[in-house]
Amino acid sequence: MGMTTNHYYPGLEGVVAAETRLSHVDGQKGILIIAGFPVEELADKATFEEATYLLWHDALPTAGQLQEFQQALAARRALPPATLALLREAAVAQVPVMDALRMAAGTLNLNVPATGGDPAHDQALALLARFPTIAAAYWRLRQGHAPIPPHEKLGTAANFLYMLSGEEPAAAAVRGLETYLNTVIDHSLNASTFTARVIISTRSDLVSAIVGAIGALKGPLHGGAPGPALDMVFEIGSAGRAEAYLRAKLERGERLMGFGHRVYKVRDPRATLLAAAAEKVYTAGGDMTLYNLVRAVEEKAVALLEEYKPGRNLKTNVEFYTALLLYGLGLDTELFSPTFAVGRVAGWIAHCFEQQAANRLIRPSSAYRGVWDRRWVPLGQR
Ligand code: ACO
Repeated sequence: MGMTTNHYYPGLEGVVAAETRLSHVDGQKGILIIAGFPVEELADKATFEEATYLLWHDALPTAGQLQEFQQALAARRALPPATLALLREAAVAQVPVMDALRMAAGTLNLNVPATGGDPAHDQALALLARFPTIAAAYWRLRQGHAPIPPHEKLGTAANFLYMLSGEEPAAAAVRGLETYLNTVIDHSLNASTFTARVIISTRSDLVSAIVGAIGALKGPLHGGAPGPALDMVFEIGSAGRAEAYLRAKLERGERLMGFGHRVYKVRDPRATLLAAAAEKVYTAGGDMTLYNLVRAVEEKAVALLEEYKPGRNLKTNVEFYTALLLYGLGLDTELFSPTFAVGRVAGWIAHCFEQQAANRLIRPSSAYRGVWDRRWVPLGQR
């Protein structure tokens, strides 16, 4: 069933390129549904393992299924020696964390423990289990510290915090991180998910699809925004300086990181959710200075974006409050994008399974705008 239209949609805006049961975004109403749940409910109630199981199996796990899933992940968290060796080399070269994650993810066909079931599912478990280990191990190596092996009793979120610091995290911090991971676990056909689906649609392997998705995620227009968003807040420093700073940035034609979205034309519901989670974390920490500054910068930014780009509806997106929340949990700005990947990899894998179950090669068309009648000129005569 080919379409004969030659119409070009820049950035594929509005083009429906997949059917999915995984998530739905209503950009006018500011609603996000994940596998049947409002994101708020999943963010609040589910562990990251439960949310992942829901996406992979289209049902919440029973207690027995959850325990089995947790054990399967625990058995796969440790990194193969080759992956660790690569991370050590990357740390010497001071490679950015997302690049190290991409390189290390490429090694994850190695040492994949078999469950005796589907090899693709074994790969999926290894990818999901090892993402936090890679990010934490590399972060420590970059700081000149030895990696901390995963704790066999802790789940994904708690382990991530533990492997960064060596201390067992407080329950509130674990809940804060799970809220974040569940919030970003899936988001319809975003650029990295689309990349993963394109790769798997060629009948390539899961590791290749996930490595491609990391490449798409790290760009500043997608998952690379939260670090720069918070750096901007730090540069602004105090609420009174926000307007002049933001105005100067917009006058230079620069984009404000953490604002605007292809689909949302209202405030991203994930921003609201993560702002509330951040408020809890900062309230518990007893210092609201940064929280209040971020709120003030947001208010000024949204007003100025309306002034400079009227009618564009550039509102706060998920990245702005990702930054505030993760920083409040003790994560450095450079770890924001890798932490996004720790959550989103579950969604990427679910989309790959979904694509494989009803696959057709993804291969769109292009409209030729080149020259039709060029003449060949021999090399010596050009
Ligand atoms: N700051 C300033 N201007 C902006 C911003 C922004 N954050 N976002 C969009 N605009 C402007 C564009 O310059 C453009 O203006 P013009 O029409 O005068 O040229 C107009 O708004 C429309 O922009 P597009 O690039 O066509 O919008 P698109 O839908 O492609 O962009 C995107 C979405 C990439 C997220 C954009 O809003 C952006 O660059 N935001 C900043 C980066 C960011 O926060 N990324 C994270 C996104 S959330 C996520 O991926 C998880």
